[in-house]
Amino acid sequence: MSKRRILTGITTSGTPHLGNYVGAIRPAIAASRRADAESFYFLADYHALIKCGDPARVQRSTLEIAATWLACGLNPESVFFYRQSDIPEIPELTWILTCVTAKGLLNRAHAYKAAVDANLAAGEDPDAAITAGLYMYPVLMAADILIFGAHEVPVGRDQIQHIEMARDIGQRFNHLYAAELARQGVAFTLPQARIDEQVATLPGLDGRKMSKSYDNTIALFDPPARLRSAIMGIVTDSSAPGEPKQPDGSALFAIYQAFATPAETTAMRAAFAEGIGWGEAKQQLHARIEVEIAPLRERYEALMARPAHIEELLHAGAVKARERARPLMDAVRWAAGIRRLTAPLPQFVELAGEGVAGATVSADLHVEKEPPPQLKSYREADGRFYFKLTAADGEVLLQSRGFASPREAGQLSAALQAAAGDAASLARLLGEATGQAAAAPAPQVAAALAALKAAAARQREKKRSA
Ligand code: TRP
Repeated sequence: MSKRRILTGITTSGTPHLGNYVGAIRPAIAASRRADAESFYFLADYHALIKCGDPARVQRSTLEIAATWLACGLNPESVFFYRQSDIPEIPELTWILTCVTAKGLLNRAHAYKAAVDANLAAGEDPDAAITAGLYMYPVLMAADILIFGAHEVPVGRDQIQHIEMARDIGQRFNHLYAAELARQGVAFTLPQARIDEQVATLPGLDGRKMSKSYDNTIALFDPPARLRSAIMGIVTDSSAPGEPKQPDGSALFAIYQAFATPAETTAMRAAFAEGIGWGEAKQQLHARIEVEIAPLRERYEALMARPAHIEELLHAGAVKARERARPLMDAVRWAAGIRRLTAPLPQFVELAGEGVAGATVSADLHVEKEPPPQLKSYREADGRFYFKLTAADGEVLLQSRGFASPREAGQLSAALQAAAGDAASLARLLGEATGQAAAAPAPQVAAALAALKAAAARQREKKRSA
């Protein structure tokens, strides 16, 4: 019913290279066509400020990266494509998260620790030239992810820790403000890192992983002559034409394989065995890359010539993305106590399927007319007492086992409702209710229980103020 949300950020401090294309852009665009998922792609320009103090470069990179993704086939109509700095909810959430983030957690971040270690090794003060931006990087990234309720974040291995930190931070907020969140039927979705084992990491010119930090990259959209001379510069061993060559461990072969069909790869493997000259192999590699890249390059150049058009697309993307971000931000503010003095109650939150970040907030209460989920107790012909949880549309979300007394069934169903928002207790109670092993609640079940709990709280509130 509700789609998986997949989110990726790209720091706007460089020019996309072939490694980015093969390892991130190409697979992400393929994934963006999945019908069962919603994709969020954004230009992380606030992150760029952490490592890049050159304003012209940040702007240029933002344009280049946006044009690259569009040229490679990203359809901004069917995904969320936006620039981080166009979403004020991101820095807004960053501060609130900062206030629940343990400093010790940030002390352990790899990037920060590496910078401290480098200072110590150089005999400097541990924090020499380290900005608070570098230190806070994981919190900003957590806000990027949590504000859209992303389920999955496809990343390279170097980013896994950041996703784990986003989970920790989100979980901590959910825990600290559990009651206030439950009253609104919302909670942060805890994201998972997704590492795609299928996707090749491309070697660079020197045979190490292609990476800006090794200065061994081949730019994706350099003019053809530049691409050609870069390819001619890939390291090879000294074997002469006619001598058989070893494809495994050859950077050239690995790059070829990342672009070629399986049949073409097999043919190249045979050519290596037959002693193809390195010059000839490089020609073939260049030709193969050119077949894939040339049409994209043409689109890229057309896009680069129209920055105003890209600006418009990003603006439209931000409007669309903010429709998602704002309701959750309002719920988070309310939960933390950033509230209007005259409006102590949360705005009514309608659960959009799963009661997490996908929730939509409606300022008026008409939506309350929608039938809420129901938790019903009843007796079966076998003389035992049961309860079931049904969604607004009547779908049975949870069916209990039979209980000997109505009291037992009633207590357990009340406990389930009360535990909404507390994943661990829910898992245990669900196990008891169904007689099966304790298991995390399905999102629909969690959402329905949270909605019931919130509705009960509103009822009590109404009575109290009446
Ligand atoms: N830190 C990521 C990188 O350097 C970029 C990024 C920023 C990001 N925010 C994100 C990635 C959120 C995924 C999700 O690659």
